[in-house]
Amino acid sequence: MKIIKCKTPDEIALLCANKILNLLKNKNDAILGLATGSTPVKTYRKLIELSKQDNVSFKNVKTFNLDEYINYKNEIDSYKYFMYDNLFKHIDIDLNNTHFPNEMLLDKYDDQIEKAGGVDLQILGIGANGHIAFNEPNTPFDSKTHVVGLSQKTIEDNARFFNSIDEVPTSAITMGLATIMKSKEIILIATGKNKADAINKLINEKPSLLCPASILQNHPNVTIYVDDDSASLL
Ligand code: F6R
Repeated sequence: MKIIKCKTPDEIALLCANKILNLLKNKNDAILGLATGSTPVKTYRKLIELSKQDNVSFKNVKTFNLDEYINYKNEIDSYKYFMYDNLFKHIDIDLNNTHFPNEMLLDKYDDQIEKAGGVDLQILGIGANGHIAFNEPNTPFDSKTHVVGLSQKTIEDNARFFNSIDEVPTSAITMGLATIMKSKEIILIATGKNKADAINKLINEKPSLLCPASILQNHPNVTIYVDDDSASLL
């Protein structure tokens, strides 16, 4: 596992956007695994800006998102909308090439990813409790795409995106840990003090179901990007 320490989230965004762009310059039909949440937003903004500047096209790119809520009240609460708003509407990607897990697909999502050629670069955030995608503590390491009930902590953490905590869906569908581990390369971004404990466990403790992200120690090509705050316990 490579660890890159940056001073600020902006610095991380620049590095990660450039990493994605470099991949697309070498492989214009690359397959990207994408995350939602607040962490990758700065990276997506930088990616939009730099791809315009360098004339990099997303026409042949395919994307597979990590997760999606089940039974969201309004379309704009969905991760599909989040991706549209924060990335897809700003670039020339064909929306038919963007994929999200859903209940009908379930672990056919894994087959879909495999048939497309596998994820070249997976972008991850991390939950304060060490979750990646919606794989909460105690998710089996061999899990494929599956339905999950969200922990109270995750519901509380995600309430900031909704009008009230009662509107946060209580279940979601997520790539499993084994699905994520099949990616050829993974970058995990962590910013802010509330991620410091999870980052410390991910980097310094033995892989354990209690910290789902710790499975990444077993992957051959992972880079963890941390800022001063998330690295404060290292
Ligand atoms: C979202 C996802 C989640 C988030 C995590 C951190 O697609 O996979 O695991 O990465 O909950 O969320 P933020 O970035 O909002 O702190």
